[in-house]
Amino acid sequence: MEINLISDTVTKPSPEMLQAMFTAKVGDDVFKQDPTVNDFEQKVAELFSMEAAMFFPSGTMANQTAIKLNTNPGDQIICDKWSHIHLYEAGGASFNSGVNFNLLDGNRGMITAEQVKNGINDPEFYHAPLSKMVSIENTTNKGGGACYEIGTLKEIKKVCQEHNLKYHLDGARLWNAMIAKKQHPKQFGELFDTISVCFSKGLGAPIGSVLISDAQTIKRALRIRKMFGGNLRQSGYLAAAGLYALQNNISRLEEDHRRAKELGALLETLPWVSKVEPVETNIVIFSVLPHIEDKAVIEKLSQKNIAISAMAKGTLRMVTHLDYKEVMHDYVKEALEKLAF
Ligand SMILES: Cc1ncc(COP(=O)(O)O)c(C=O)c1O
Repeated sequence: MEINLISDTVTKPSPEMLQAMFTAKVGDDVFKQDPTVNDFEQKVAELFSMEAAMFFPSGTMANQTAIKLNTNPGDQIICDKWSHIHLYEAGGASFNSGVNFNLLDGNRGMITAEQVKNGINDPEFYHAPLSKMVSIENTTNKGGGACYEIGTLKEIKKVCQEHNLKYHLDGARLWNAMIAKKQHPKQFGELFDTISVCFSKGLGAPIGSVLISDAQTIKRALRIRKMFGGNLRQSGYLAAAGLYALQNNISRLEEDHRRAKELGALLETLPWVSKVEPVETNIVIFSVLPHIEDKAVIEKLSQKNIAISAMAKGTLRMVTHLDYKEVMHDYVKEALEKLAF
């Protein structure tokens, strides 16, 4: 039994999802003639009560397109210091859009309206870059799957409105947040200018993200996606996986969250673990005692066919997902309990 807890992106499509992909009706999406992509985009837009949506091959490209749509070169994005758009998109924001960041020191990847307000540059002070966009990550990746209260997001929205700032949501794992906090997509649709969501993480699709916004913005996104090389042809085969995931794989995220919480609770009891970050969704981040190398933990678990990853020196991460089943969970718990240093 091979158990991979490195990320929720490691899942493989189930036979049912593959069947949906095999039997998808397709056409050339560059001519907007792929019925499955069109249906998928419309369904996602409706779910969020927003006007339009666009299919992307990756969350990175969807985020990068949102940045391009919402800014001009030289502008500044306000976001948390751990944001994926800053840390893990290969400097794309500066390369693609010529923008820079004001990085806020948030709590587990989450920022507040007060911090945003204090981070806005005076538009009259022409020496400073123009603050143009606020980007939120929900759930937070490096922040360990933490998720926002809607109230906090509304407070930030108010600041954005008062200061004429665009409001973007990197919702790669928004599905997890909505399940954990019992929220509805419409609550996000009414707040944000642009939202990116991923189907290739907790929802188990092999590929695919969607950018959601108003019709005019999505029309502009078509040219940007083309420029980024993301306009695909018979992409209905991929959109079919997203549609399948939308219909079948959302409510079960609860299972991933339960297992992650159980892992977190178990780690708390182990003598070699110094700290476990709060587990809200499917990400478990924990630290080991100073004399223990994170590499040693990874190695010992790998000898038992369990793969986990290091986040920083002495800090490790496990992510639960669709392909992590109960029998694996029992095995991992036992393996962790038996681990000795
Ligand atoms: C928060 C967040 N945003 C965006 C992305 C990018 O998604 P992709 O890997 O599909 O480009 C990821 C990927 O892990 C992520 O965690």
